[in-house]
Formats: sequence, structure tokens, C-alpha cells
Amino acid sequence: MSSSPHRRSIIILDLGGQYAHLIASRIRRFGFTSFILPADTKAELLKDAAGIILSGGPQSVYEKGSPAADPGIFSLGIPVLGLCYGHQWMAQALGGTVSPAVVKEYGPTDIKKVKNEQRRVNSNLLADLPEGFRVWMSHGDEVTKLPSGFVTVASSKDCIHAAMMNAERKLFGIQFHIEVTHTQYGMEILRNFVDLCQPEPWSVTGYAAKISEEVKREVGDQPSSSGLRPAGRKVFMLVSGGVDSTVAFTLLNKVLGAERVTGLLVDTGLMRKGEITAIQKAFEPLGIHNLHIEEASERFYAALEGVYEPEKKREIIGNTFLAVQKEVSDRMGLKIEEGWMLGQGTIYPDTIETGGTKHADKIKTHHNRVELIQKMMEQGLVVEPLKELYKDEVRQLGEELGLPHDLVWRQPFPGPGLGVRILCAQEPSLPKDGGMSSGKRGSTDPQIAEMVLPVLSVGVQGDGRTYRHALALFADDKTPTDTHYGLATSIPNGSRVFSRVLLCTSHAKPFDPVFTPTMIEQKTADLLRDADSIVDAEVRKAELYDKIWQFPVVLLPFGSQAGGRSIVLRPIESTDAMTAAAYRLPHAFLRQVTEKILQIDGIDAVFLDLTNKPPGTIEWE
Ligand code: XMP
Repeated sequence: MSSSPHRRSIIILDLGGQYAHLIASRIRRFGFTSFILPADTKAELLKDAAGIILSGGPQSVYEKGSPAADPGIFSLGIPVLGLCYGHQWMAQALGGTVSPAVVKEYGPTDIKKVKNEQRRVNSNLLADLPEGFRVWMSHGDEVTKLPSGFVTVASSKDCIHAAMMNAERKLFGIQFHIEVTHTQYGMEILRNFVDLCQPEPWSVTGYAAKISEEVKREVGDQPSSSGLRPAGRKVFMLVSGGVDSTVAFTLLNKVLGAERVTGLLVDTGLMRKGEITAIQKAFEPLGIHNLHIEEASERFYAALEGVYEPEKKREIIGNTFLAVQKEVSDRMGLKIEEGWMLGQGTIYPDTIETGGTKHADKIKTHHNRVELIQKMMEQGLVVEPLKELYKDEVRQLGEELGLPHDLVWRQPFPGPGLGVRILCAQEPSLPKDGGMSSGKRGSTDPQIAEMVLPVLSVGVQGDGRTYRHALALFADDKTPTDTHYGLATSIPNGSRVFSRVLLCTSHAKPFDPVFTPTMIEQKTADLLRDADSIVDAEVRKAELYDKIWQFPVVLLPFGSQAGGRSIVLRPIESTDAMTAAAYRLPHAFLRQVTEKILQIDGIDAVFLDLTNKPPGTIEWE
């Protein structure tokens, strides 16, 4: 594959683990080229790779239909590293045996290097590591007989072949998870493998030049000439204001020129205060003026009138968005027949998550890969300049293209925008007995006053999503202590009624909540926009923006007086949104933000969400 984009890179063959991205992105952070390909990629297509890593996976190698690579990879003469399932599959494919482990190992495990004649050779990935160290194991099967030519490199108490190798053929198998931080020296082992492979260096700058050439090729070099089949197409792109679409749009402008690119930004009425202007301003210094703004907020508010159910709201927002987009593109004559194609800001994890490689568990269908788009992709009518980049690389590219730091590094913001942060309800919702049956709500401290909020919110407990109540705690000085944070774990754990615990930062004592029916409309969106913009400005002023991963601000349909509503502050720390910890805000900051929010006409109570995820989700809906 001389024209292969994967030449001299380390290829991760995806055997079904969720960790393939972690490994590929780590190798790129080392400064080397790495891509993920489906498990059954033909060996012939991999002959120019610098090295191959067989990923982990949840199945057993002896199960029928379990993922397998092409055994031809072992004859290519390039280094291969099998991890966990990949280690077992390698052993079996080369004539060894894999069986259910007598003692299954999960969690931290001590391993010891084994003395043998091959262990001192340079290619031993563990050669420069201590004699014993602690690793993270997670396996029910194990290699019980090595393939011929292999030796054991390390063992644990219950797993003899915790690491194996055939130094001469540069084949390595490791049972433990080198990609997780709990494994001591995991990164050193990966680095040793990478050094052995000597892959092509990787840099975002270098890659951007390559993408530019690819975009020109895909879209066609020359602008279309009328009448005949167009020699080069023009690109229409939806810009949301998020990092990915903004960077993709900027790159397309730079590569193709403004006359061949048109962007559309739909004002849904659910965006943050001043967001549209900020996006326009960011493009101005770059000379990008081809972004059409479609004001459609009234249309969204009308479609959402009387809608209270979170998933229904999401569906309506999504559908209205598509309808507006279609109308605008028809009106502007942006048709395929007229030589237009679609640009998207899809990034690397989005292409893999959807079964872009066969064995990755299908977590969600990404909106960039719905059926209609897939069909257009087959016809070569979609261009995705960022499809092989990770988020941090997209950000770096954005800065290199001259986009402002604040925009490129902004915190994640959900697609439906403020639509999922206005908690909509027609009537109050309280647990049957006020939640009292759950043992003083889990709190044993009689000093701590509590109040059950008359709303339900989404949480995640056990295997599934829950729809439960929130309990507010009160403190004389209106600031949270370790005790409050502790209760935010123990109360949901011991209760089937509550999934969230808050601290009231506006009141020292419980009050009788007065409910106001609430839905998405101009008035509620403006209320939330005002509160959200206060929080955003204060967070930046206090230099907390980069420390907090995401900071939802939520509007609740009740207040302490008639017609009033409440605001919830939900700052969290996270790396991937799968789990999250409540971020502990400085007390002075909390007091100041609360005071400012209380000055908004229509808001008369403020709460701080103390809940981790699990049991609470990041968003309230
Ligand atoms: P949860 O609330 O499930 O959120 O803990 C996890 C991450 O997903 C974001 N989120 C969404 N993003 N459309 C999106 O594009 C949605 O409907 C949506 N709901 C939640 C949320 O902001 C967090 O980063």
C-alpha cells in the first residue's frame, strides 16, 4: 500500500476494547503516527506499517465468532504487541493455548520479571524496568501454553504468562493493561515498543498540510465551470460555534478560498448570551465573512411550546434544526446538482464510536453518521477535514489557524444548548411521603437542615438512568463543607428517592418552595442566559475556566416567592464526561456569584450541586 495514509505508523487493530483510542492518542502524544483500523484488516494492507498493536476486548478467543486479526501479520517482519485479549489471540493464533483462568484477576496485581536467556536483549519491552512492579489486570482467561519460540517475560501469583515474547520475531504479548494509569511503567512499556518500531513522527502542523492536499483532492482542485460536470465542488457547512465545526470551517476557508465555502449558523434561541456575535468576531480577523446567520429562535420556541419531557425536547430541537437547515440551503440554492457538497467537523473518536471499526461497542450513533450522511459519503459528497484528529489536536490546529484561544479551548456545551438546562415542568413533583421514609434522607446530623426540591432530575445509578428527586442542604454561612460533600455521596447511595444533593447558597434556612410552571420560551431562555453569562464572566475573572471541565447552569421551576425561579450551579471536573466529580469552588467566589445572580429579576434562590457522577449525571436532564 504505497499510497496508504498509514505508512510507517503504528496501527492499532481494534479487537473490541474501549481503549484503542487511549493507546493511539498516547502514541501521538509521544510524537509518533498512530491510527486505528478494524481487526480483520488484511495483512497485505499493513505491510508498510511500522508496528501493530492488537487491542484488548471483552470476548474469549475460543468463543465462536470472536474478533480475530489476519494471522498473516506475524509474517510481515514488523513488531507486533498484543494487549490483554490481543495477547491471548496472538498466543492462540501462533499455536499456544488459552483457557479460563483458575483464578481470575481483576484490579491491582503484583508481577515479577522472569529470569531467562532472552530477557536481557534490547527488544525485551520490560528490560529497563524494576524486577517487580504493580499492574492493572482484568481477565477471566489466560495463556496456559506458550506458542513455540516464545518465552515468559513476567508472571503474577496467579498468571504465569503475564508477559511473553519472541524476541527474534519481535512479537510481544502482555496480559495486563499498560494503557491505564494504575499500571506502573505502563507508558514506559508502550514507549519501548514505539521506539522499537521507529514510526514516522507526528505533528498537527505536518498533518494539516497533508489534510489540505486531501481536501483539495476530495473537493476538486478547480472551481466548477458552469454547464458541464463540475471539476471542483463548493462546500456547505453547518457551524455550531463548537470547537470542531469552527476549526473545520476555518480550515476549509483557508484551503479552498471563501468563494467555494459557505457556512450556516442557526440561532436556535438556545445559545448563550452574545455567542453569535463572539463567533462572528472570531472569524473577522481571519477575513472569513461567508457565515450566514439564520435567526430562527421564534420557530424553536413555537415548536417547544407545552413540551416538558427532556427526550421529546431533544427530538424537537433536532428536527427543527434539520428543517431550518434544509430551508436555508434550498433558498440559497446550495444543491448537490449545483456542485455543492457537505462539510462536517467530525473528529476521530466520532468515526470509531459508531462502529466505524466493526468491534467497538456501538455506544451511540453520532449525528454526523446518520443514514442520509452515510449515503452521501459513499457518493463522495462529504468532506471531513478533521476526521483523523483527536480533540486536543483539533484545538492545537485551531490556534495555528489563528482562532482565539478562548473559543478554541471552550468548555463542552451540549448540542441542544440551553434547551436541556431549563428544567421544564407543568406541576410540582414531590416524593409520596416527602422522602422521609428513606431514613432522615440519609443524613444523621440533626444540625443540617434539609429541603426536598419539588422537581425530578436525571441521574445514573446502577446500570441505568434514574429519574429522581434532589435534596437541598442548608448551612448558616451558606458555604459547603466536607460533611456536605460526604452527604452528597451517602444520601443517594442509601436512598431510592434522591439522586442529587445540593447546598443552598442564597438561604441559610429552608423555605417553602413556590412552583411556577416552566417551559422553553423567550422569557425562560433569557433568564437562564443572564445567569449563565454572570457565571461565565466570573469564572473567567477568577481564572477558574481552565480548572473546571464543564459548568452547567440550570434553571429550576420554583423559587422562594410567587413567580420566582431558582438557579443551580453545577461545576464539575472530568476527563471524558463518563464520570465526574463535583468541583469545589472557592467560598468567596460562590458568595459573589450568588449575590450577582440574585440581582436578576425573576431569580430568588441559588443552589450548588454537590453530586458526583454517578449518581448524578452532569446535566439535569
Ligand atoms: P450527562 O448529563 O449524561 O452528560 O452526564 C455527559 C456529557 O454529554 C453532554 N450532553 C449532551 N451533548 N447533546 C449533546 O450534544 C445532548 O443531548 C446532551 N446531553 C448531555 C453533557 O453536556 C456532558 O458533557
